Amino acid sequence: LLGLAVLLLFKRRTRRRNEPPLDKGIIPWLGHALEFGKDAAKFLTRMKLKHGDIFTVRAAGQYITILLDSNCYDAVLSDVVSLDQISYAQSLMKRIFSLNLPSHNPESEKKRAKMYLQGDTLTQLCSSMQKNLNLLMTPSDKGLETSEWNKDGLFNLCYSLLFKTGYLTIFDAEKNNTAALTEIYEKFRQFDKLLPKLARTTVNKEEKQIASSAREELWKWLTQSCLDGKTGRQSWLGSYIQQLQDEGVDAETQRRAMLLQLWVTQGNTGPTAFWVMGYLLTHPEALRAVNDEIQCVKHLCPEEGRNHTPVFDSVLSETLRLTAAALITRQVMHDKTIRLSNGREYHLRRGDRLCVFPFISPQMDPEIHQQPEMFQFDRFLNADGSKKKDFFKQGVRVKYPSVPWGTKDNLCPGRHFAADAIKELVFTILTRFDLELCDKNAVLPLVDTSRYGFGVLQPAGDLEIRYRLRS
Ligand code: HEM
Repeated sequence: LLGLAVLLLFKRRTRRRNEPPLDKGIIPWLGHALEFGKDAAKFLTRMKLKHGDIFTVRAAGQYITILLDSNCYDAVLSDVVSLDQISYAQSLMKRIFSLNLPSHNPESEKKRAKMYLQGDTLTQLCSSMQKNLNLLMTPSDKGLETSEWNKDGLFNLCYSLLFKTGYLTIFDAEKNNTAALTEIYEKFRQFDKLLPKLARTTVNKEEKQIASSAREELWKWLTQSCLDGKTGRQSWLGSYIQQLQDEGVDAETQRRAMLLQLWVTQGNTGPTAFWVMGYLLTHPEALRAVNDEIQCVKHLCPEEGRNHTPVFDSVLSETLRLTAAALITRQVMHDKTIRLSNGREYHLRRGDRLCVFPFISPQMDPEIHQQPEMFQFDRFLNADGSKKKDFFKQGVRVKYPSVPWGTKDNLCPGRHFAADAIKELVFTILTRFDLELCDKNAVLPLVDTSRYGFGVLQPAGDLEIRYRLRS
């Protein structure tokens, strides 16, 4: 065993002809793992400046090719035979959710989810989401006095409200037990905070215990609400449970799978709502434009009004451009050649991993977006107020200016529901509440850099606000 370890430690890998530039880092085996885990965006930006749009790095014994040419993401990722998404997803499931689902197939999963998250079912889901959010924001449920100011962190406020709304809507949970809802949210947050460390297996003993007990509690709650046979089979979650049962998945695994679904459906929406509200509160011109738009659509019927909000849509797109930072990972199953948009071809080696990181390109690419680190609420608006779709890099139109919902064949099936829930929350806050920063000069907190790669970013701190129901 020792011999094998020494062999692995010193086995030299060299760049072969037509392979991407290779950067192993100076530490044997570990390579760039620490820098990658600490702040993937900073590390990969540094590598991009050094090597260009494609390169291979070593991290904890694994060779990872990073592809940052956004115009070829779709073509490359369409080869699902050579580039497998199941094996890496399964290893993450084990580490994070303590879940072993050999039958997991993300492709069919997304197809099934899509069926339930569009058309009439989406309309019904959105209407039940609005009712639930409304319920949570009425004085009796929040315990608010109309005239009294309440203090909170903006992140906590947005995340807790949207988590509870989403949980009530998608998991069809019992509506009247507000104490239980708060407890579930708090347990979920304990678990969610540790998610990057669980994925990287860097949790210490104490954190491991916290994660295990939070998982246990959540499994218990979710079993009660989802697996007691009440969840309608015609819903997305109901059909998921049915599928697990048809596949012969045992009861314990079924209840563990519920937490995976809770995170997939609730882990990104609340944080996005926080950034939207945070950018609005710290950019008065953006807040004014959204408030003006709300006044304009007020007289339209709710359905029509919600569909005609180009300013809000641009604010949401801009927020996601700055904060959606999922790393799309595939396992290379066979040696394979890929072609970049400039026509150059590169060999990928079997056994390596391929990662695409849209956050760096296109989202933060200074050749596509001027001053990419700045929030510009109208970045996705044309001069005539319509949605801006054309963005260019070196004179060539880019396929996508931003990829928050995943690439063409892997689009998030819940994106319409998510966008609707965020819009509903922001519009409700802006129309029914007085909400302001405790410190008028406060700026948005920095991001927690360990979360690059895990969906929508979270702040390292919070933004103190006070709010009250408008009389
Ligand atoms: C997958 C983004 C909210 C349901 C994904 C993927 C991304 C994403 C990037 C992965 C695509 C891939 O790697 O293949 C987001 C963002 C959200 C959000 C930015 C909020 C702002 C939601 C909501 C739902 C949902 C609210 C459900 C109602 C799903 C499902 C998958 C998925 C079922 C497939 C997971 C799997 O592979 O099994 N989402 N999502 N998402 N999302 Fe979302």
